[in-house]
Amino acid sequence: MPDFEEYIAMIKPLWESRHLTNMGQYHERLEEMLKGYLEVPNASLMVNGHMALELTIQAMNFPAGSEVITTPFTFVSTTHAIVRNGLQPVFCDVKEGNYTIDESKIEDLITEKTVAILPVHIYGHICSVDKIQEIAYKYGLKVIYDAAHAFGERYKGVGVGNFGNASIFSFHATKVFHTIEGGISCFQERELYETLYNLKNFGIRSEELTVSIGANAKMDEFHAAMGICNLKHIDDEIKKRKRIFEAYHGLLGEEKGICLLPYEKDLVPNYAYCPALLTGSYDRDKVYEVLRAHDVYPRKYFYPLTADMACFKNKYKQQPLEVARECSAKVLCFPIYPDLPLGEVERICHIIKETKNGRQGVAAKTDN
Ligand SMILES: Cc1ncc(COP(=O)(O)O)c(C=O)c1O
Repeated sequence: MPDFEEYIAMIKPLWESRHLTNMGQYHERLEEMLKGYLEVPNASLMVNGHMALELTIQAMNFPAGSEVITTPFTFVSTTHAIVRNGLQPVFCDVKEGNYTIDESKIEDLITEKTVAILPVHIYGHICSVDKIQEIAYKYGLKVIYDAAHAFGERYKGVGVGNFGNASIFSFHATKVFHTIEGGISCFQERELYETLYNLKNFGIRSEELTVSIGANAKMDEFHAAMGICNLKHIDDEIKKRKRIFEAYHGLLGEEKGICLLPYEKDLVPNYAYCPALLTGSYDRDKVYEVLRAHDVYPRKYFYPLTADMACFKNKYKQQPLEVARECSAKVLCFPIYPDLPLGEVERICHIIKETKNGRQGVAAKTDN
């Protein structure tokens, strides 16, 4: 959260202007600020990350029933956005090592109905963007990245929102940068700006002119104000996350059975998540339960695979998803947020180690 007074000072003028939404000055300001911060040529601010993704896919105007190659190891929003556009998800396995879509398996899944690839920079780990682009060019496919986890990252000196045809980011309250609820679509073709504007604003261009069918997915002034406040502090917040991330790696990095993912070379990361693959003497579900019993709330991100969820199971072509299933069964994301005290990280790591081979963690909570 930003400083309370800072936010209040930001929203006070809204009482005077009464301009609360409909592309007000904070909407416009934040959109511009984010284009600068993310170093992207075009962007459209949205009410949340999901609508940014759903409308970005819609803006590409794919024929109904077309296939989109994607990952099942993600938050359900990714798959919902495909299906809610009348398209078919084709689930591709992920890679050991960074859990993003396995680019070596994409070509085998391409058919005459394939129109796009929708990979996810999961936990902020970067997909093989060069190889994916090569495949896309070869087969004439669009690439839309779900970059919900990758806010502010740079890969090989380039803002991650520049890869593929478009990328979306989520500004949900749980994310590295947030507007409480919010999101953005970043894209290469300038023309998409108008299409997305219409899609997020009922197709309304003026009082008497509605040019196309659209939803309502615009961000209001209060959320934009929250974003403007938070963006001022983002670099400090990421630095604080880095300390926590490094503390986990220092305390657990050598532990057999706990595989903490290193970031890719050439990536400037945002330290959004601290995922660990638990194997051998460490049982994921046991660690999860014991931590919860100690008032620590790790997340089984992402379990189950979206392909296995009741709403999608057995509805689409079946693919072998061995690595994704293994990750889904064994990955646990440890708590990470800027104000998490290092003493608390030590306590969490101690509890985790105590679960080894079925031992229970019983460390007392510390205040530092
Ligand atoms: C991978 C992924 N995609 C999409 C979304 C949807 O974003 P939002 O919650 O802002 O709608 C999330 C959000 O939490 C996510 O983790």
